[in-house]
Amino acid sequence: MTELTRPVAFPQDRTCPYHPPTGYDPLRGARPLARVTLFDGREAWVVTGHALARTLLADQRLSTNRTREGFPAPTRRLAAVRDRTAALLGVDDPEHRAQRRMVLADFTLKRATELRPQIQRIVDERLDAMIAQGPPAELVTAFALPVPSMVICALLGVPYADHDFFEEQSRRLLRGPETADVLDARDRLETYLGELIDSKREEPGTGLLGDLVQRQAREGGVDREELVSLAVILLVAGHETTANMISLGTYALLQHPERLAELRADPSLLPAAVEELMRMLSIADGMLRVAVEDIEVAGTTIRAGDGVIFSTSVINRDETVYPEPDTLDWHRPARHHVAFGFGIHQCLGQNLARAELEIALGTLLGRLPTLRLAVPADEIPHKPGDTIQGMLELPVTW
Ligand code: HEM
Repeated sequence: MTELTRPVAFPQDRTCPYHPPTGYDPLRGARPLARVTLFDGREAWVVTGHALARTLLADQRLSTNRTREGFPAPTRRLAAVRDRTAALLGVDDPEHRAQRRMVLADFTLKRATELRPQIQRIVDERLDAMIAQGPPAELVTAFALPVPSMVICALLGVPYADHDFFEEQSRRLLRGPETADVLDARDRLETYLGELIDSKREEPGTGLLGDLVQRQAREGGVDREELVSLAVILLVAGHETTANMISLGTYALLQHPERLAELRADPSLLPAAVEELMRMLSIADGMLRVAVEDIEVAGTTIRAGDGVIFSTSVINRDETVYPEPDTLDWHRPARHHVAFGFGIHQCLGQNLARAELEIALGTLLGRLPTLRLAVPADEIPHKPGDTIQGMLELPVTW
């Protein structure tokens, strides 16, 4: 382990929205493991090396159960929900395995492939509407947010007509600003999805939530609370993350005209470009774990009860795996990035997200060959460092 003289503050705001904060530079020089200080002055380990990240993310001695003593809370908001369990991401095996098995079939590559025509239809409709009203347009509200929101609604069987409500609650859940917002937003989402699930007992309709209710009635196994918690994570994770990838991905592409031209000239590069953008943007920057046993790694000991944070933006710039890591390159093998995590909690929605990103970015670039930023790049606000990264707005023209 490379010694750091002083722990680095975590999280920090990015200077450029698609590069790790410059304040993390000392972490990039300290691989594979270093120390960070959290908002309340507590310290935690931060994993910075790619190989160690994959080893530790697969290690069951690290828990995602945030109610455990020592679980790291990088923000006041996360500290406020530490006593509330959450489905999937908040539970360890064997409970985790049982929950994941309930929903796995709806998130396979085959299922994502079957959904492609529907995703394409949604993307086309949103672009038709945006083009009819512009130029210019604000890409987040006109395109980046509605596309994944509509897709996850169709998949789950949540009425898209309620999108203003759940998008606003997701925003409060992930960004506050106050701790009270997080708690209230969570309660509201649970009430809303609880009522929706109850209504599906009578009338399951189409979609995963109706299927889960029917399966629960047939086989038992999970209680209502667990179903509601699952619905919350699927709905929130299912639209916020992908929306940020579309907005920030578009911004990054527009800032790299040569890479953009290359992609336009050869759309078969699209899957590789999505993978490289996932690596470069690392929008979910800070996966959280707590050690449940002592772990000997990198010449040191992570003690039971120590908090461990995985900085995806730093890990995905490990130059021993990705030469010239700050350069966008469609021809590098980027697939082993940890932007979707790794191990048992690796993103459930990754096949869906890849399909959405390929279709959304590919169609946007294809239909608007003169797409460009409508204002200077440095005037466009992006999200603060303590949440999922993305653009707050993205004014474009064509
Ligand atoms: C590009 C967009 C996305 C990114 C960057 C992303 C990122 C991640 C990451 C990093 C994790 C692992 C967290 C950890 O181990 O601590 C994760 C887990 C998860 N993601 Fe995604 N995600 C995306 C899209 C989606 C979508 C579309 C869904 C759809 C429902 C989804 C649902 C989930 C769920 C349910 C988990 C928890 C899995 C488990 O604990 O077993 N994500 N995601």
